[in-house]
Amino acid sequence: METVGSVDALRAQIKLWRQGGGRIAFVPTMGNLHEGHLQLVREARLVAPHVVASIFVNPLQFGPNEDLDNYPRTLQDDQKKLIAEGVDLLFAPDVATMYPRGTQCSTVVEVPDVSQGLCNDFRPGHFTGVATVVARLFNLVQPDVALFGEKDYQQLAVIRRMVDDLGWPIELIGVATVREPDGLAMSSRNQYLGDEERQVAPMLYQTLCQVASDVKAQKTGYRVLESEAMEALAQAGFSPEYVEIRHAESLHSAVPGELNCVVLAAARLGTARLIDNIRV
Ligand code: PAJ
Repeated sequence: METVGSVDALRAQIKLWRQGGGRIAFVPTMGNLHEGHLQLVREARLVAPHVVASIFVNPLQFGPNEDLDNYPRTLQDDQKKLIAEGVDLLFAPDVATMYPRGTQCSTVVEVPDVSQGLCNDFRPGHFTGVATVVARLFNLVQPDVALFGEKDYQQLAVIRRMVDDLGWPIELIGVATVREPDGLAMSSRNQYLGDEERQVAPMLYQTLCQVASDVKAQKTGYRVLESEAMEALAQAGFSPEYVEIRHAESLHSAVPGELNCVVLAAARLGTARLIDNIRV
């Protein structure tokens, strides 16, 4: 696996592959790779002969009081893991390569509708940062197929909408959330959890499972289920941001009777902000 940091080196390799005619699969990440990321890479291997991964901690998607400076950066370990999974090319640019005019002066991509509500209420501007960096990465790598985790459900919806609205010929594959044995969704941010918090953390997924089964049973009004779940999380020691039952594709608020749903939640536990979701 070659690691490149410049646009020219990336484009040179992509051009060679294009001449050979093989499909290119792309897995964008912010590094500090865990089994969730590696599952994306494994599925990428199955759909294309050439697999490109990227590692870039994108300043544009972090708010002023978020963990940009502390975000774990573990390039050498990550490289070893990607080599073991058979990745062909790693694109690991610096900030100046991604934003040559600076992070404040670059063109941005704003995706309406699906970017609103949920995480955006607590991380305003986050999805503009995500859409902007993914748009630039897509234009640099020019993949045929790109893989994203369903763990970041709203992010995947935003990227799907962007690709559809802008007419890019890129197939998007959503990959099921990889979990720890106790159900906690794997995340680079789980390492912010202290020992006691780590014991409590799986409650987030358990609460979502309970809401999903209540939705299936059409037990009571969806808004009641949401507030009961918020209450249960608060009781367990979380500071819940939201628990919402949404339509699985539009992400609009689901009304009782609607069964094509996803239950999404975000909650703080100590210094960690955890998100998770479950399809009904
Ligand atoms: P990052 O958090 O590093 O995640 C990279 C990819 O891995 C995303 O598609 C994410 O959904 C997926 N992923 C993370 N945890 C997962 C898990 N437990 N199971 C399955 N997939 C998982 O998401 C980002 O980076 C950034 O926003 C990015 C898209 C790279 C743009 O900067």
